[in-house]
Amino acid sequence: MQGLTATLLRGLWYVALPGAMVRPGAMVTKTLLGEPVLIGRGRDGGVFALRDICPHRGIPLSYGRFDGETVACCYHGWRFDTAGVCREIPSLREDQKVDVERIRCGSYPCVERNGLIWVYFAQAGEAPAGREAGPPAMPVFGDGDAPGAAIMLPFPCSTDHAAFGLMDPTHAAFVHTSWWFKKDPSRLRPKEKAFEPSELGWRMVRHPLPPQNIAYRLLGQNVTTEISYRLPGLRVEEIRGDRHAVVGLTAITPVDAENTEVWQFFWISMGWAGLMRPLIEHLMRVFLDQDRVVVVRQREGLVKAQPRLMLINDADTQARWWMRVKDEWLEAQQAGREFANPLKPMTLRWRS
Ligand code: FES
Ligand SMILES: [Fe+2]
Repeated sequence: MQGLTATLLRGLWYVALPGAMVRPGAMVTKTLLGEPVLIGRGRDGGVFALRDICPHRGIPLSYGRFDGETVACCYHGWRFDTAGVCREIPSLREDQKVDVERIRCGSYPCVERNGLIWVYFAQAGEAPAGREAGPPAMPVFGDGDAPGAAIMLPFPCSTDHAAFGLMDPTHAAFVHTSWWFKKDPSRLRPKEKAFEPSELGWRMVRHPLPPQNIAYRLLGQNVTTEISYRLPGLRVEEIRGDRHAVVGLTAITPVDAENTEVWQFFWISMGWAGLMRPLIEHLMRVFLDQDRVVVVRQREGLVKAQPRLMLINDADTQARWWMRVKDEWLEAQQAGREFANPLKPMTLRWRS
């Protein structure tokens, strides 16, 4: 936590990108958890993820061509199917026996759910199983529902500092200052929220939202919210009224130990929200960029002085929980046992 880098967690599903960004027959290359990953969609509509390195001479496969079924390397034309199995080596003559299918470029478990492409990073080549057999499902909305708004900004910070930003209840008055969203830092109000452990993390217990707020009134009566945080860096906010619901997901996906992609998605049950998409995404980007600017400046200090950092009560308690849950994940993996959530229900108090 102190420095520029974070320990990256394996044995978990990560958000790679929205499914809408990969058309059938297309491929996209990304660096995720420090590894080159080629993500594509076959002609049949299914998504896949390969290690973006040709096992022949190491050139990224993404320079090659994808015909909807196999990726052909740009150097000598070796072809790999979407499971990463070599299907053809063009230079071979009929009497030259090479067991082509034993050659593999490496693949990652990859699924599309809730309109997002998720990639599983195994600890040691194992298939996803147990509580991580599949990526987490979003509440309220179905597997096939794509988000109505989606943005990403690259943050030049580790996943730890990106995660701290997500769960930081007291920075808004100082960081998020736009004409349409402004809190007066000299008029902070006391806050008190109940938290409890939940799947691979914790949640802020469901509570009612102020009925006088116009934005919430669009959702109907009795609007409530629940916010959950879980490994490997997902914040899910579910706001529900008796007529409509909005689900927000922020996902922090490590590019490497000191760079992070911060994705933000919204699923919105009001049909007319589709027309507002450009405006909603613009506002999301303005908001998220304020968080990004802070970590750019923070990096300046971390690089210059490698300071020891502080976490104080209760405002930084969730940051501390993040580190505890992460440590437990790593310890459980090392000991080959089940993850046991170390957190207890707790009420946190702060001013914001
Ligand atoms: S380097 Fe890929 S086919 Fe030779
Ligand atoms: Fe923020």
